[in-house]
Parts: sequence; C-alpha cells; structure tokens
Amino acid sequence: MSQSQRDIKLRFLAEPQDVNFGGKVHGGAVMKWIDLAAYACAAGWSGRYCVTAYAGGIRFVAPIHVGSLVEVAAKVVYTGTSSMHIAIEVNACDPKSLNRRTTTTCIVIMVAVDQNGQPEKVPQWEPVEEEDIVQRESAIRLMDMRKEIGEEMQCFHNKIS
Ligand SMILES: CC(C)(COP(=O)(O)OP(=O)(O)OC[C@H]1O[C@@H](n2cnc3c(N)ncnc32)[C@H](O)[C@@H]1OP(=O)(O)O)[C@@H](O)C(=O)NCCC(=O)NCCS
Repeated sequence: MSQSQRDIKLRFLAEPQDVNFGGKVHGGAVMKWIDLAAYACAAGWSGRYCVTAYAGGIRFVAPIHVGSLVEVAAKVVYTGTSSMHIAIEVNACDPKSLNRRTTTTCIVIMVAVDQNGQPEKVPQWEPVEEEDIVQRESAIRLMDMRKEIGEEMQCFHNKIS
C-alpha cells in the first residue's frame, strides 16, 4: 500500500523565457510553478488525480531574477472531504550564493476527482504539532473569510465585459 506524503518541494531555474520586459520573472510563471507544486503535493497526499479549485492570498513579496534557483514548497494544512488546502512558499536565490529569500506566498485548494471529474474523498490530515494545529485553525478561518470575499465580488460578475 502506498503512503501519503504531506509536503513537497519543487525546484526550477528561472530561464530567459520566464522573464518580463523588466528582467524579472513573470507573475504568471511563478503561478504556474505554484500550481505544479500544489498538484504534486495534493496527488502525493491523496493518491489521486486532483484539480485546482482555488488559489488566493497570493503575495509577491520580492522579484525573482533570471538565473535564480527557485524552490516552491507546498504543504497540506487542512483536509476537507475532497479538498486539500495547501500552503505555498516560494523562495529564490542566486545558485552561486544560495542566499535564499521568500518571494511569494499563497494558499491553493486542490480537489481530488474521479474519472468523471467528480470530487472524491481524501485521507484526513490530523495535526499533532502546535504549529500544524495553528495552521489548520487558520485554514478554517480563511474558509469563512473567503465566503465574505466571494459575496463581495458578486458585483463584478458578468459586469466587466
Ligand atoms: C473543483 C470542482 C471539482 C468542485 O466541484 P463541485 O461540483 O463544486 O463540488 P463540491 O461543491 O462538492 O466541492 C468539492 C470540494 O471543493 C471545494 N471547493 C469547490 N469550489 C471551491 C472554491 N471556489 N474555493 C474553495 N473550495 C472549493 C468544496 O469546498 C469542497 O470541499 P470538501 O469536499 O473538502 O468539502 C469543480 O468546480 C471543477 O471541476 N472546477 C474546475 C477545476 C479546474 O478546471 N481547475 C483548473 C485546472 S486543474
């Protein structure tokens, strides 16, 4: 029987095609790396194919320069019935100096789905360590806050184009 893995780190080198006109990595390139890490983390935890249901709270704290070594750390902080809430932290450094700094943080919610795209149950994450308990409680509070944000955003739906 295979074992669940709660966290994962993916590493990338920021290549010239990832960079914008200002010489920094595109936000979209960072988001793609985040999505890949969240998928690998969710698949490793659930043992299932997963889709991205939500990504939010993204904060680009610092730019990433071309040639940087980028590490995307992903960790399950809360599990629902079919969803896995995954905390993401992106760190980058010059590979010659290895002087890491955090560049981006966010939360991604992945949902395990079957062949028909229907949500499937995932193994439950039960925190024991104090830090894990705090993070799980924060993930629960964020669910309520997202409901409020969703309601607030209703006024933009079908009103932009
Ligand atoms: C994600 C998806 C499977 C959810 O399907 P659904 O019919 O809404 O199913 P449910 O309402 O039962 O929700 C399933 C889970 O997703 C969570 N979820 C759904 N939409 C969500 C959202 N916008 N934000 C956060 N969580 C969400 C629900 O809370 C629920 O979690 P739980 O089972 O742990 O309680 C469906 O919306 C979908 O396929 N979306 C498109 C996914 C996609 O294309 N992603 C990009 C490429 S991978």
